[in-house]
Amino acid sequence: MKFFIDTANLEQIHKAQALGILDGVTTNPSLIAKEGVKGKNEIFKHYKAICDIVSGPVSAEVFATDYDGMIREGEELYQIDPAKITIKLPCTEDGIRAVKYFSDKGYRTNCTLIFTVGQALLAAKAGATYCSPFIGRLDDIGEDGIQLIAQIVETYSYYGFGTQVLAASIRHTNHILRCIEVGADVATCPLKAILGLVEHPLTTKGLEIFCKAADSMK
Ligand code: G3P
Repeated sequence: MKFFIDTANLEQIHKAQALGILDGVTTNPSLIAKEGVKGKNEIFKHYKAICDIVSGPVSAEVFATDYDGMIREGEELYQIDPAKITIKLPCTEDGIRAVKYFSDKGYRTNCTLIFTVGQALLAAKAGATYCSPFIGRLDDIGEDGIQLIAQIVETYSYYGFGTQVLAASIRHTNHILRCIEVGADVATCPLKAILGLVEHPLTTKGLEIFCKAADSMK
């Protein structure tokens, strides 16, 4: 399973990259806004800075909600770094059309705000590189986000779609562990959730014991 970090924060991206296990980055307008960047120039510079840190794909989301605007914006975003930028588009009628337009051109796309298998199927048929179902937001309304991931993984495998299931809206480490169980291709996670994978009380305790033994031999 690939690990993407779900943030636009350069410091956190550096930290995750330094771990040596980072495969890519996802952003969205809320995450970009959180960094305090404003205006097209600053925002594009920020994306470029992210691309310069990582070696993998960087999802940059269009702000436009109409087809023509999405095409215009997507083209501009892609040119920031054609080797890394993945154009992120919402699962709407215009968004699906735009996914199809860009996938026909051979551009990477990430179809986002996916909450049903039907939406995931449309994203795959339009040729999306990634489909992003939102686990946490489904859990928030009493549904089962992980179950949706499992259903999409099964559907894509049944019909032989190449679209990768990118589990998004991951809130904690256990979400990542559950994504591994159901076979998500990618999990995009906050840094804290990734770091949570490292920790186990028995690892901490075991290390203490080993350190004491090592000290006793000095
Ligand atoms: O990747 C989408 C993600 O950023 C949304 O997360 O926590 O706002 O539902 P959240």
